[in-house]
Amino acid sequence: MQTIAILNQKGGVGKTTLTINLAYSLQQDGHKVLIVDSDPQGSTRDWNDETDGAIVPVIGLDRASLATDIKAVTIGYDFILIDGAPRLSKHMAAAIKCSDIILIPVKPSSFDVWASDDLIDMVRQRQEFDSNLKAYIVVSQAINNTKLIGEVIEVFKGDKEQLPVLKTKIMNRTAYPFSASEGKTVFHTKDKKAQQEINNLKQELLTHAN
Ligand SMILES: Nc1ncnc2c1ncn2[C@@H]1O[C@H](COP(=O)(O)OP(=O)(O)O)[C@@H](O)[C@H]1O
Ligand SMILES: [Mg+2]
Repeated sequence: MQTIAILNQKGGVGKTTLTINLAYSLQQDGHKVLIVDSDPQGSTRDWNDETDGAIVPVIGLDRASLATDIKAVTIGYDFILIDGAPRLSKHMAAAIKCSDIILIPVKPSSFDVWASDDLIDMVRQRQEFDSNLKAYIVVSQAINNTKLIGEVIEVFKGDKEQLPVLKTKIMNRTAYPFSASEGKTVFHTKDKKAQQEINNLKQELLTHAN
């Protein structure tokens, strides 16, 4: 079993969007997948309600006891995806604690890069005594501006205290909000590019995970 937490204390960066699409992509490969909604706002649970739970099972664990509670419900699953909450909170620390892989979506803007600093520090501290914990930055909601994306990658690269940036970037595409509003994923739309980038992201993560 692999637990992947999608975290960033900033709201609106694409945590929920990545969680549901990545979860569905993994499930399509025949894996048993469970989404844990750790955000008290419950966006993933709202998404799940739209289809009466027909896409990927979702449970809500939005307290600091997450790290303990999760053990009771995740037996038998291949992948657990934790959709993170905004703000640096006790349950973000709990999510870090029970994860094998942490994925940090960051929008290509300086504000978003700076805002992820505290989380990155927290992750790096955890990595100091848990060398198996993997953590990556993923560029999210990128517009077709390679210069801007390149600058963001440079910021992360230039500092040894930072985390590796995944090659796959998630672009800004209408298929993401459109499909989510119906409780679906980009795999339920005709947008092949969106599907491809989610599959690429999955492959990159799985390569690193082994
Ligand atoms: N790659 C994307 N392209 C276009 N819109 C996106 C993309 N990712 C997320 N969004 C939209 O941005 C908003 C915030 O995304 P969301 O996944 O809810 O972020 P978070 O969970 O980090 O708060 C939502 O309206 C979502 O539909
Ligand atoms: Mg969210």
